[in-house]
Amino acid sequence: MNYRHSFHAGNIGDVLKHVALLELLRLLTAKDGALLYLDTHAGAGGYDLGGDAARTDEWRQGVGRLWGASSAPPAVARWLAAVAAWNEGGKVVHRYPGSPGLAADHLRGQDRLLLCEAQPAVAEALRRRLAGHDRRVQVVEGDGYHALKAHLPPPERRGLVLVDPPYEAQQAEFDAIIAALREGLRRFPTGVYAIWYPIKQASAVAHFLRQLGDLPVKSALTLELWVRATDSPLRMNGSGLAVLNPPWKLDQEAASSWLPWLARELAQDRGAGWRCHWLRREAAAQPAKPEQVPDRGRPGAARRPAPRSRPRPPR
Ligand SMILES: C[S@@+](CC[C@H](N)C(=O)[O-])C[C@H]1O[C@@H](n2cnc3c(N)ncnc32)[C@H](O)[C@@H]1O
Repeated sequence: MNYRHSFHAGNIGDVLKHVALLELLRLLTAKDGALLYLDTHAGAGGYDLGGDAARTDEWRQGVGRLWGASSAPPAVARWLAAVAAWNEGGKVVHRYPGSPGLAADHLRGQDRLLLCEAQPAVAEALRRRLAGHDRRVQVVEGDGYHALKAHLPPPERRGLVLVDPPYEAQQAEFDAIIAALREGLRRFPTGVYAIWYPIKQASAVAHFLRQLGDLPVKSALTLELWVRATDSPLRMNGSGLAVLNPPWKLDQEAASSWLPWLARELAQDRGAGWRCHWLRREAAAQPAKPEQVPDRGRPGAARRPAPRSRPRPPR
């Protein structure tokens, strides 16, 4: 395995994933009941942007572009505040939290974090960063897909599972995800599962999204954000986070507020856009007044270009 997230921390994929992750945690912790957060591909938990990340500078097109934004919608403002907390108040951004770091900061005393990481050195860094001083945290070194079999259903009966693999072999990873989700859903059908995926060409993920929509869940939603046209197989143009059993209102906030804002702010050319798209939707999950969010959130909803604004040159 060659993948090191330290080279990609804070990039456009992390922005979408982590804003959505904080939204999921906010909505799921609105109820008092304890929650399990299972991160199947956890990474190191936090990253120094002056280290490996400085060799790609991907973060400059992600968190770097948004740093100091004054007009961010609430979901993005909450994520920026979370990143600022890792940066001594936040004049300059030099550290970026990973998903385990963000989750640890936003979960409560009654919640639990189970963090899986396959690479021993990365798992050790994660342990040092989080597990030693936080009794809610358990780091498991090994295969994250196996964790869905070994640790579900959780005694808490409520859980959020983040599946965020490196996609070194895209099709093989898609197959592994679908197999693992089938097993997870069999054991824990009411869990919330969030699956991040890169978008190079939109057509390359279409089959995977159909497979996600065919899983035995009541509802499945995907949130996508791309900064350039999704027509090149050579680079990551955007990414998506599919959510099985999404909490109520995740789609409304995303489509009416933070996804269009992010698409505009992160756009690298006119091909940028976003969509909030139901892969499967049970009747009861429909909002009371669907006309409040016209056209969005319906199966087959159009892919949206970013709201018109002059694309910013890369900084
Ligand atoms: C995209 S990174 C995770 C980033 C992290 N979720 C975040 O948002 O900060 C993927 C991680 O999965 C690890 N990994 C790769 N294959 C794995 C497997 N089968 N099980 C668990 N971890 C794996 C890699 O070492 C890498 O650290």
